[in-house]
Amino acid sequence: MRKEYYITTPIYYPSNKLHIGNTYTTVAVDAMARYKKLRGYDVKFLTGMDEHGQKIENIAKETGISPKAYVDRIADDTRKLWEIMNADYDIFIRTTDDYHVKAVQKIFRTLYEKGDIYKSYYEGWYCTPDETFFTERQVTASADGGPPKCPDCGRPVEKIKEEAYFFKLSKYQDALIALIEGNPEFLMPQSRRNEMVNNFLKPGLEDLCVSRTSFKWGVPVDFDEGHVVYVWIDALSNYITALGYGSDNDADYRRYWPADLHVVGKEIVRFHTIIWPAILMALGEPLPKRVFGHGWLIVDGVKMSKSLGNVIDPKVLVARYGVDAIRYFLLREIVFGQDGNFTNEALIGRINSDLANDLGNLLSRTVGMIEKYFGARLPALQEPTAFDKEISDLAASTVDKVEECMDNMLFSDALAAIWTFVRRSNKYADETQPWVLVKQEGKRPQLANVLYTLAESLRITAVLISPFMPNTPGLIRRQLSITDDGLAAWETARRFGLLPREIEIEKGEIIFPRIDLKAELEKLRTVNTAEPEVSIEDFSKISMKVGKVVASEKVAGSDKLLKSQIKIGDEVRQVVSGIAQYYSPEEFVGKRVVVVTNLKPVKLRGVMSYGMILAAGGDEGELRLVTTDGHIAEGTVVR
Ligand code: MSP
Repeated sequence: MRKEYYITTPIYYPSNKLHIGNTYTTVAVDAMARYKKLRGYDVKFLTGMDEHGQKIENIAKETGISPKAYVDRIADDTRKLWEIMNADYDIFIRTTDDYHVKAVQKIFRTLYEKGDIYKSYYEGWYCTPDETFFTERQVTASADGGPPKCPDCGRPVEKIKEEAYFFKLSKYQDALIALIEGNPEFLMPQSRRNEMVNNFLKPGLEDLCVSRTSFKWGVPVDFDEGHVVYVWIDALSNYITALGYGSDNDADYRRYWPADLHVVGKEIVRFHTIIWPAILMALGEPLPKRVFGHGWLIVDGVKMSKSLGNVIDPKVLVARYGVDAIRYFLLREIVFGQDGNFTNEALIGRINSDLANDLGNLLSRTVGMIEKYFGARLPALQEPTAFDKEISDLAASTVDKVEECMDNMLFSDALAAIWTFVRRSNKYADETQPWVLVKQEGKRPQLANVLYTLAESLRITAVLISPFMPNTPGLIRRQLSITDDGLAAWETARRFGLLPREIEIEKGEIIFPRIDLKAELEKLRTVNTAEPEVSIEDFSKISMKVGKVVASEKVAGSDKLLKSQIKIGDEVRQVVSGIAQYYSPEEFVGKRVVVVTNLKPVKLRGVMSYGMILAAGGDEGELRLVTTDGHIAEGTVVR
């Protein structure tokens, strides 16, 4: 009997299209699932979508379609994305799936009947125009002593009280501390363990609100009309409902639960290591064996967000460089568990050095030399030397190292170890100098041996990289004409010399072409990020008017700033602009400019500025004023 291995990604919110950050989670889980399959496990890999909640209801309303039609569209896009990323999941759950809805209702009822869920009141802040609840900590305190403001739209929120169900989270506090402190395997990496205990558990847990009456888009509580199950019970339960828990057929649940590994981003570790085990304890079900909280992918040093316009679309990258290059980069560049920076420079750097120079070069030079020196068929005549043993020993120890790294989710270290082997193989080619051997008499067996050793290193590399880069091994094997699938098995990586002594090669394309860094970066600047959209309502919040500069002088102590008086209709406003390198105060006076008039005033170098003058250019280009075509009176609104 094969041993079961159950691994999960979080289920994703369909509030936006999925990006490179979510892709990172899925790719990591996929690499692990593939690795475990190769090691002979009976693997179940679950992913899916977390489709309920007020936010989705609101977005659907804005989009003018039903919530279900909206989530259907995003779920389709997500499935396509996982296909592109080569994520080989077994189950794709959606929290709107009928079987999940029924099972969640059953879970909710069971907890209620056991007394772990009870009815009480929820108190919080509510933004009526946005139809959204906020906690005390989320709302913005009002400067004028009035009610606090909505963190999204800035309008006042009101205190409301509604009937709601609560889960007795507080009851499980001690059991949870014992779980996290007494079982170091449960939550990894270690740093997250301390955070959970010190920041959440020790200060004390409050009971958790688990139902709402203010929106409809959720799993209905089947014994109390008007209530829907609020997010986390619905979402977390997916890990067991996907296996049939709470249905008539729970054979998979009995077979695969408890999960071996839940992989989640660091911001949701709390839900998975506090709320989720507490729910399972209340249900009397076994707890997952391990939760791993990975770090965030940040872009050029800042968190990815739609409003910053720095959201990276993995599809664009895959179309340019191929899926294996992107998977390699994500898993090699960022230490799993820590935050990591995504930059185009780093991506192209890795492709050029690791994939083109190291691996791609090892393959093309090996098959190239076999073709050139032996006419595509490497003869069996071979004389291994003691020197070759270094390569075969390194191959075996690399396999050990990769296994050890994978046990600890150290994807990056695993790949680093494989590349040490690839580089060593390239060095072996440089040291043995086949291009010299070919010219020496009587050295044919030695030459054949060197090329065989290189081909065998490539075969082994293809096995080792297969969890991370599912397409490349096939390309390597094709060029080496390896048709025996048995040679792709993990155990064969440990046994040097399994490749038939006499091989034929089939020279193919360059597997990872080198990229011209400078030209590519230029192109990527335009394709990588989608500009954030704003609605016409948002745009109309900005007030712009034509103004005329009536006075201007340099701000003392600054080379860049001009302090100017701008006539806008009947008023004269002071505006500070970073334009002094391009316009002298004399040139500036008399100019007709466009001023943003309702920006929050700011102090620049101690001087107040009550607006912003529009200009174009900057960085390397010269900055020029945006002005009007012909005479337009000061104070005229720009739209
Ligand atoms: N729906 C919840 C999870 C419920 S699980 C029972 C959720 N969804 S999410 O779509 O917001 O996030 C899903 C995963 O994507 C999280 O693990 C999150 O950390 C990951 N990422 C989202 N942005 C990310 C980065 N920029 N970098 C790395 N991972 C990121 O939370």
